[in-house]
Amino acid sequence: MNVIQSDVLVIGCGIAGAAAALRLAQDRQRQVTLITRADAPEESNTRYAQGGIVTLGAEDSAELLIQDVLAAGAGLSLPAAVRILAAEGPPLVQEVLIEQAAVPFDRAEGGDLAYGREGAHSRPRVIHVGDATGRAIIQGMLNLLRQQPNVRIVTQATAVDLITFPHHARDPLTVYEPITCHGAYVYEQGQRTVSRYLAGATLLATGGLGRIYRHTTNPRGARGDGLAMAYRAGARVINAEYVQFHPTALALPDGEGFLISEAVRGEGGRLLTPDGHPFMADYAPRWRDLAPRDVVARAIHHEMVEHGYPHVLLDIHSTMSAENIQERFPTIYTRCMELGVDITRQPIPVVPAAHYFCGGVWADERGRTTVEKLYAAGEVACAGVHGANRLASTSLLEGLVWGDRAAQDIAARGALTITAAADIPPWEEEGVLEEADPALIWRDMRTIQHTMWHYVGLVRSARRLTRALQDLNHLGKEIDVFYRTTRLTDPLIGLRHSVQAALIVARAAQHNRQSRGCHYRDDRKSTALM
Ligand code: SIN
Repeated sequence: MNVIQSDVLVIGCGIAGAAAALRLAQDRQRQVTLITRADAPEESNTRYAQGGIVTLGAEDSAELLIQDVLAAGAGLSLPAAVRILAAEGPPLVQEVLIEQAAVPFDRAEGGDLAYGREGAHSRPRVIHVGDATGRAIIQGMLNLLRQQPNVRIVTQATAVDLITFPHHARDPLTVYEPITCHGAYVYEQGQRTVSRYLAGATLLATGGLGRIYRHTTNPRGARGDGLAMAYRAGARVINAEYVQFHPTALALPDGEGFLISEAVRGEGGRLLTPDGHPFMADYAPRWRDLAPRDVVARAIHHEMVEHGYPHVLLDIHSTMSAENIQERFPTIYTRCMELGVDITRQPIPVVPAAHYFCGGVWADERGRTTVEKLYAAGEVACAGVHGANRLASTSLLEGLVWGDRAAQDIAARGALTITAAADIPPWEEEGVLEEADPALIWRDMRTIQHTMWHYVGLVRSARRLTRALQDLNHLGKEIDVFYRTTRLTDPLIGLRHSVQAALIVARAAQHNRQSRGCHYRDDRKSTALM
């Protein structure tokens, strides 16, 4: 069985992992290994971010940005973390994204950056590359990373479990030491074997968990892998009940989950009922269509439930010219056109969908978790920035800042000790009896997704959450047996991570009886339709 040793192991190739690897690469003595379960490192949640990344706009200040993040976070954002974001984020956008990675952000006529507006922002400050900002950012960062001689990128490599002492130690005396991470067991999809990736420091940057829900804007890999591994390793997880639903995912057959960026409303798009009523003024007279996401998502949900609508409509053609729509939103325009909706002439059918995990593995200001030598950054982590509801387009910025901070902390540790392979047992395959049946994995995944959607969704109640936990606990036991007796595949590993992640979210939601931000409980109406 393979053993791969590096100073730093980064699990996940989105903006947080890439930012950390870029900073670490500056020290040429340090070997960095970046792994992803995807076929290509470009494939991560970052790639699908449309709207943009927050910086400071023309008549803006760090103080205003801080106030907006805190207001959206509904009283649960950690002020010190938000201050770090506002102070360090904009200079890092300039240094890493604009100067080093040469991301071609859109410019206004005079050559200044073009600042877009999004929900609950008091100033236009979101910079973008059309409506494919994440794709341009990750492309630029990966181009740079590929030039670094001390960074190795490994694809089709799925992390199965973190290697931690005392759990995996041969030496029984490690039980008296703090829980410490030494890398990860990683399933190599091509060879169908499990390798030991050993490292002096490990950074989790695996992204979110939207795929544990039936309807989501997230790509296939967002199934809670990092959260589940860290939880099993004993890391502290916080705020897991706060799953953000994006108000506007496309509601067309074959286009399900495709994001219709909040920037569309930022450019004047209005939400309408199917019979043409602009309903957001009824729910949020001050902000209307640009209210915080939790408010807009619940308003749409309420309209759908009250009136039995299958979706609502988003109209951009009444306020923007066809030419401007095609230039500003080329990806959305093309995708909708392929599916038969010309958004320069017709409104877009939209519904809410699971989008972003505001909770996660607790990470301090340096990205450190409660497990020694284990760091977390980006969506898998919770540093306290987003509180109970994330402000639009702050996630890429947070990944950039905390990826960079984690790397700086690792660099400051000096020489890193990599535990010897002889001290860590190879992966055990004893008890494996059969090949994985894809039909069973698919069915179990669907059960998780339906359970989370109906019982742990936008509107929650004690009855629904109790039911969710009964079903998920039962399923979790079945999946555990299945996992222990079946030859590994990437979907099987994902299924095990997903049921773990679902249980973490459902337990946190049941435990917290207070509605706040995107955790909304309506225990009086527990029989309402979802
Ligand atoms: C969007 O473009 O609406 C998504 C951006 C975000 O989630 O912050």
